[in-house]
Amino acid sequence: MAQEDVFKKIVSHCKEYGFVFPSSEVYDGLGAVYDYGQYGVELKNNIRKYWWDSMTLLHENVVGIDSAIFMHPSIWKASGHVDAFNDPLIDNKDSKKRYRADVLVEEYLAKIDEKIEKEVEKAARRYGGAFDEAQFRSTNTRVLEQQSRREAVHARFAKALNESDFEELRQIILDAEIVCPVSGTRNWTEVRQFNLMFATDMGSTSEGAMKIYLRPETAQGIFVNFLNVQKTGRMKIPFGIAQTGKAFRNEIVARQFIFRMREFEQMEMQFFVRPGEEMEWFNKWKAVRLAWHKALGLGDAKYRYHDHDKLAHYANAATDIEFEMPFGFKEVEGIHSRTDFDLSQHEKYSGKKMQYFDPELGQSYTPYVIETSIGLDRMFLSIISGSYTEETLGSGESRVVLKLPPALAPVKLAVLPLVKKDGLPEKAEDIVNMLRFDFRCQYDEKDSIGKRYRRQDAIGTPYCITIDHDTLNDGKVTIRFRDTMEQERASIGKLHEIIAEKVSMKNLLKKIND
Ligand code: GAP
Repeated sequence: MAQEDVFKKIVSHCKEYGFVFPSSEVYDGLGAVYDYGQYGVELKNNIRKYWWDSMTLLHENVVGIDSAIFMHPSIWKASGHVDAFNDPLIDNKDSKKRYRADVLVEEYLAKIDEKIEKEVEKAARRYGGAFDEAQFRSTNTRVLEQQSRREAVHARFAKALNESDFEELRQIILDAEIVCPVSGTRNWTEVRQFNLMFATDMGSTSEGAMKIYLRPETAQGIFVNFLNVQKTGRMKIPFGIAQTGKAFRNEIVARQFIFRMREFEQMEMQFFVRPGEEMEWFNKWKAVRLAWHKALGLGDAKYRYHDHDKLAHYANAATDIEFEMPFGFKEVEGIHSRTDFDLSQHEKYSGKKMQYFDPELGQSYTPYVIETSIGLDRMFLSIISGSYTEETLGSGESRVVLKLPPALAPVKLAVLPLVKKDGLPEKAEDIVNMLRFDFRCQYDEKDSIGKRYRRQDAIGTPYCITIDHDTLNDGKVTIRFRDTMEQERASIGKLHEIIAEKVSMKNLLKKIND
């Protein structure tokens, strides 16, 4: 099935099964804003908890905060967001559609990559076991041509971005003959800068009102609280401050479902280190964060690092962790070495010292910062995409199953009486009452057992527990495993242990350290 079709199916699955709804749907929706439904919110909470616990339980020098969304407007001046938080936009004069100029070029480069990979796959099929991939890549003329075209465009693109040269950016689009996907023409406007922050007024009188911004990142709430936490927590460098919360960006092109939203949630951690030690910590956090992703078991090949061509105004190194979404490898998390830029800027703009006295060195300095920044919604999308599976069963039937990491599944077990009589519902309810304090359980007695299994598969429930007439005599139930569909008899007394083994967050967290 084409990847576009898979993506469409995922989007409709999310809606049909109560994961994600378009916001304000009864009013025809609001661009790039989404609501999470009854299962979506549970999955989201579980992802957030996985992140939070990995940061604050596994690292004793990382603590959390929850800062306000509204902040003093000078913060955004100091951080550079008022002047520099812009995207280069370009319009197609025929379709009147607006695009991010950099994204148009990135998509063009990704298409060249795809062509190269297709050539390699084709040759691998043709030559079978005798295929030498490295040799093919370095000698095949079609691959070499594509590769050199890619390198040439990429070099110009990186330079144009770094120098904020928008004329050159437009010229690259023209030279590469990139067309508008809607009109199919190359009738492009100039490239212009567009600030992504949402502004509003605080205060009730027009004279007293102050223009404030909805935060475009949670990180600044951490920077301005750096000394509060350091002093009250008696934190010693190196240490980190973690935070999760909403962020807002007036994205030019808000597409691809919850991948690029105007209101979204971030999970960010700023790690404060001695100047000069930042690259060591940058590499360490890169590895720690990748291990966090891989522990979910969606497949190691689905992740890769991508170093930034253009560094943000605050960074001296930056890498993305990308996940293979149905629409290609895409950024899910950024790891940035932010130097002392933010703290120094806040010191300058607020007039308050932002320094740390290092007792071991006997001197004060402005710490350097390594940031790990992940979008919760993007993580959600990567997990759903990596879990969505369509299977044809032996019977000729098919099923859609979300093979979610069990610890993140919204519902951990469904308890299903085989029939709605003979004391089976009562027994099932006893089991729910026994397990509900530790696991999110769902009781379901409606429809055939097959249909009930399918419903649970579709929301990713790892276990279905079926109560039948034998249960009343032998105290045993049937456990059905989501991924294999295998069934096993087990005594009611053993249920807690069997379920906990797979769904516990603790076991997932332990994997990160393995
Ligand atoms: N504090 C640094 C920072 O905000 P970023 O690369 O702009 O860096 C970090 O954003 C992460 O936030 C991204 O990797 C992505 O997962 C998420 N993110 C950014 N913009 C987003 C959007 N419009 N919709 C959903 N997630 C977004």
